[in-house]
Amino acid sequence: MPRQLRVVRKSLGLTLLTLLASSAFLRASAPARHWPSAGRFAGVSADTLTMPVVLKNISTVPGTVEVNLSAGPARLALLPGHVTNAYAYNGSVPGPTLEVHEGDHVIIHFHNDLPEPTTIHWHGLHIPAAMDGSPLRPIGAGKRYDYVFTIPRGSAGTYWYHPHPDVRTGYQMAMGLFGAIIVRDPKDPLPASLPEKLLVLSDNRFKPDGSPDISDPNSTQGEIDQENGREGNVLLVNGQLSPVINIRSGETQRWRVINVSAARIYRLAIPGQTLLHVGDDGGLFERPREVNDILLANSERLELLVRGTRPPGSRASLQTLPYDRYDPHTRPESWDVARDLLSLRYVDASSQPSPALPSRMRTVVPIDTTHVLHHRVLVLSQGLINGRTMDMNRVDIRSRLGATEIWQIENVVTMDHPFHLHGFQFQILDRDGVPEPYRSWKDVVNVRKHQTVRVVVRFDDFPGKWMFHCHILDHEDHGMMGILEIQPPRPRRKS
Ligand code: C2O
Ligand code: CU
Ligand code: CU
Repeated sequence: MPRQLRVVRKSLGLTLLTLLASSAFLRASAPARHWPSAGRFAGVSADTLTMPVVLKNISTVPGTVEVNLSAGPARLALLPGHVTNAYAYNGSVPGPTLEVHEGDHVIIHFHNDLPEPTTIHWHGLHIPAAMDGSPLRPIGAGKRYDYVFTIPRGSAGTYWYHPHPDVRTGYQMAMGLFGAIIVRDPKDPLPASLPEKLLVLSDNRFKPDGSPDISDPNSTQGEIDQENGREGNVLLVNGQLSPVINIRSGETQRWRVINVSAARIYRLAIPGQTLLHVGDDGGLFERPREVNDILLANSERLELLVRGTRPPGSRASLQTLPYDRYDPHTRPESWDVARDLLSLRYVDASSQPSPALPSRMRTVVPIDTTHVLHHRVLVLSQGLINGRTMDMNRVDIRSRLGATEIWQIENVVTMDHPFHLHGFQFQILDRDGVPEPYRSWKDVVNVRKHQTVRVVVRFDDFPGKWMFHCHILDHEDHGMMGILEIQPPRPRRKS
């Protein structure tokens, strides 16, 4: 049965791909209505790292952020220097950053200018199910939708948005649709004077003309992509190739890093110095952790402090070190090579001493596990969760509002699967029985080959249907996903 379903989904994907490929071709040769010729270049090589623009707030009401956001075809360089047909949010790749504060009321007037259905998923945000942009609520070509939600208190951190249509997420993201979300805390414990950088890490594979090379699912490469997840040989930061970040000797910078890659896992390091890892998916930790390198699976985020420990005139680079997430049969040949992502250029020494950093940043209250309503086991195998592929008309897990649950996620195969739950952030209890060394809020956990991870989650709000899935986009699009339904509490019996 799952096998059959998989085949059906595969051929459906193929039909859609063929349809889109032909319509994209038609549009490319048509006048510039659908593929505007203007547009900002996504990348400028060997240049200073530029930040994506911030979405303009058109509201004058305090505590309200109201923005216009469209997804549409654009002519721009996904591969720096090669203008091609792409998809973009408001004409740029990455899309503009949505910057909000805890407690803000957010209104996003979304317009789908794409020649196909899409959604916007606000990855990691705790908001009502109708606003989640899941595949259950597609927005047709040419249609509009207002996403309206409130940013919960205590959720300051780095998030991101991306399309989440049925079967087409990988394609639409490879074409350029992704953007960052920054939720700010009015009482951020880190000094406001730390220079802040946003790094959106993506990878892509290109044809000689600079258009994304998306393999035919029936080709050998297509089969490898479906297994491994599509990895590109070109690594980009904010759409730029090997950009430069300037730093002063003695200065400390705060970096927010988002991995929007379809499948690539980064192991970030600046060789020769340690990093202060201060936060992940759901914001800051209780205390900074000093580390040599940090693993960042696809769709995860992290915050780190980079200290300018070298003299003026020196250089360093942010690298991704080898990390073996692969099945041995489809592991790429060059997997064990470190790659440069960007370089750090030391300019003159800082005249001011770097502000003191707090040793304790905030309290991450542990989820109370004294009353756990359900213990569940989720088995991840290749392309399947508990032996099944996604069915939009099936509910895989039923729970109720207010429930605390422990999910034991078991990976029984020989490659990593980053597991993601929509709508609710969880806390990691242990991995293969080893207690997690620090507490944090997560919405993705990379479950390594043959590893078992236990997480605890509380469904404190927002009944409805929520996706959980592997965030390797090729796996997700082929149905490595399920549905959690949270029902309102049973009405109390009157006595
Ligand atoms: Cu970023 Cu359903 O995912
Ligand atoms: Cu999500
Ligand atoms: Cu997977």
